[in-house]
Amino acid sequence: MTLVIPGLLTPPEAAAIRAAAERLDFADGRETAGRFARTVKANHQARPSPELEAIQAKVGAALRTNPVFASAARPRALTPLILSRYRTGETYGLHVDDALMGGLRTDLSFTLFLSEPETYEGGALIIQDRIEERAIRLGPGDLILYPSTTLHRVEPVDRGERLAIVGWVESLIRSADAREILFDLDQSVEEVFARDGKSDLFDRLSRSRSNLLRMWAGL
Ligand code: NI
Repeated sequence: MTLVIPGLLTPPEAAAIRAAAERLDFADGRETAGRFARTVKANHQARPSPELEAIQAKVGAALRTNPVFASAARPRALTPLILSRYRTGETYGLHVDDALMGGLRTDLSFTLFLSEPETYEGGALIIQDRIEERAIRLGPGDLILYPSTTLHRVEPVDRGERLAIVGWVESLIRSADAREILFDLDQSVEEVFARDGKSDLFDRLSRSRSNLLRMWAGL
């Protein structure tokens, strides 16, 4: 399941991170790429610093408290967040993300866009499935969550600067199909409760959701 979560950060929060990013040191993104991805990766990533840690903490808190992210990803753990920067001519060619990062299995990838779309050209995230390519270019503070199993790339930036935060989730629920069923059930439970309160239907739906979670968690 690929999902856009609009407004994970408010526009002022995204602007504050952009301003903070201007004071960071950036390193060649190839330093953190795998052997094959290195040949197509041409971007920059913020070097570790207390200022970067403050940004990571702010975004990490927004992720942890967002109910849609929690329901769609069911995170067990997140990799350290990467602040990436693409300037004119920079790109990240077609690749698949590493299956394991720092001991975590990457089930879901996400990109949190930080730059105003009109301040740069190009730089769309392109996610490929077996039929078509989908181009994603979101506003500052908006996040796209997508399966780490996909081939994807970042189109070259033709003008301006594209800042984004990327990261990966190891989910409690290994199966993407199971995650989607639980995501639908979360919405159904909410809707039934909003309509009729704590009815018999609500109780049965809640029990099914809990028992599926019990069945699938950790498999
Ligand atoms: Ni990637």
